Amino acid sequence: MSEIEALCQSMLGCRECGLSDGRTRVVPGEGPDNPRIVFIGEAPGWQEDQQGRPFVGPSGQLLSQMLAAVGIKRQEVYICNIVKCRPPNNRDPLPTEISACKHWLDAQLELLKPKVIVTLGRYSLARYFSGESIGKIHGRHVKRDGVIYFPMYHPAAALHQGGLRSAIEEDMKKLAALLHDASAAQEEKMQDKAEEASSQQQLSLF
Ligand code: URA
Repeated sequence: MSEIEALCQSMLGCRECGLSDGRTRVVPGEGPDNPRIVFIGEAPGWQEDQQGRPFVGPSGQLLSQMLAAVGIKRQEVYICNIVKCRPPNNRDPLPTEISACKHWLDAQLELLKPKVIVTLGRYSLARYFSGESIGKIHGRHVKRDGVIYFPMYHPAAALHQGGLRSAIEEDMKKLAALLHDASAAQEEKMQDKAEEASSQQQLSLF
């Protein structure tokens, strides 16, 4: 079992806040052990609570469609939430629940070490962009300590307010372009290193 799998396993018995009383299943998150991107949503909904998997209900289906539309494979990204258990009747998570759950997400990110973190909605936005409004900064990335943070609307927002769908689609395109540019830059860096190593080797032959 990988370290991230072991961590997710250890979340299953968590009773650190009241959400554990009403949950069917804990929803730790899912994806590869070594993802380039991590998406962070808000909290599991009804379907997620039933299945123990993130983003499998209506907003998850929309997220999958939007990822596919820009050529990002869902199985290549890691998806998780700010809180790992469903709040009753899908109410907003409380500050006490968010802080009780924080150490799980901190530990996940510490193990996953993604290059890009995409925040979906206002709770994950608040974790990285305290005091900012989503309407103002969505789709505009910032780089801090080598990690790119990319704020987006939550896909559920598009289900409630149809007008936001095109904003999310545009942001997805920007995200895909950003990933493409980051890969190209990485490849160029590796090529430069390889060329440098081979010219060093040639020099040492003389
Ligand atoms: N909304 C979220 O924020 N997370 C899920 O897992 C599902 C819906």
